Amino acid sequence: METDRILLRPWQESDAETLYKYAKNPEIGPAAGWPPHTSVEESLDVIRTVFSAPETYAVVLKETGKPVGSIGLLFGKGSHVAGILPDEAEIGYWIGRPYWGQGLIPEAIRCLLRRCFKDLDISSVWGVYYDGNTKSRRAMDKCGFRFHHTEKCKTSPSGDICTEHFMKITKKEWASYCKGNII
Ligand SMILES: CC(C)(COP(=O)(O)OP(=O)(O)OC[C@H]1O[C@@H](n2cnc3c(N)ncnc32)[C@H](O)[C@@H]1OP(=O)(O)O)[C@@H](O)C(=O)NCCC(=O)NCCS
Repeated sequence: METDRILLRPWQESDAETLYKYAKNPEIGPAAGWPPHTSVEESLDVIRTVFSAPETYAVVLKETGKPVGSIGLLFGKGSHVAGILPDEAEIGYWIGRPYWGQGLIPEAIRCLLRRCFKDLDISSVWGVYYDGNTKSRRAMDKCGFRFHHTEKCKTSPSGDICTEHFMKITKKEWASYCKGNII
């Protein structure tokens, strides 16, 4: 998949060093529910396991041809959304620290939403962010997601007690968002 500035393509084993460069930063993983990577070998293992899942993509800058982040969909029991329906998905994403604030992840989200609603016949897409992660909330706001509900006293993967906010966009909401925005 392609937008003005980025390509979304499957992760490759040869991306391991680039992945490690960004994923070792403690400002990235914990905000998204995973610990910072500690070695290139760990990043390679993540590419072979987690990132080999369906609908998981490297966010590649067209300008350089290198990955700078990741975006993907979770389905069913793999999702953090209790009671998620078989025709729904949860979106997850991150981008390397040097690339924050350029609207690249909103561009990637809009691209993946198009695939969800046009190709995959998904009825709604969820997005979940930890309390305080206004950056993620803003990225979803800019793509037409709406706040749905909050769940308190959840246990994060690192064992911390946290509050999670759930955002959602339905196929109908996406269609009207597209009408009002050139995407
Ligand atoms: C959340 C994240 C994916 C946003 O991606 P992005 O491509 O930078 O998105 P945007 O450019 O639209 O910026 C979103 C918001 O981040 C904030 N932001 C932008 N640049 C920033 C910077 N250099 N430092 C701190 N915050 C910044 C702004 O609030 C911005 O909103 P605004 O455009 O209304 O001002 C990115 O910050 C990230 O990877 N964070 C760590 C992992 C994470 O939180 N993943 C999501 C888990 S739910």
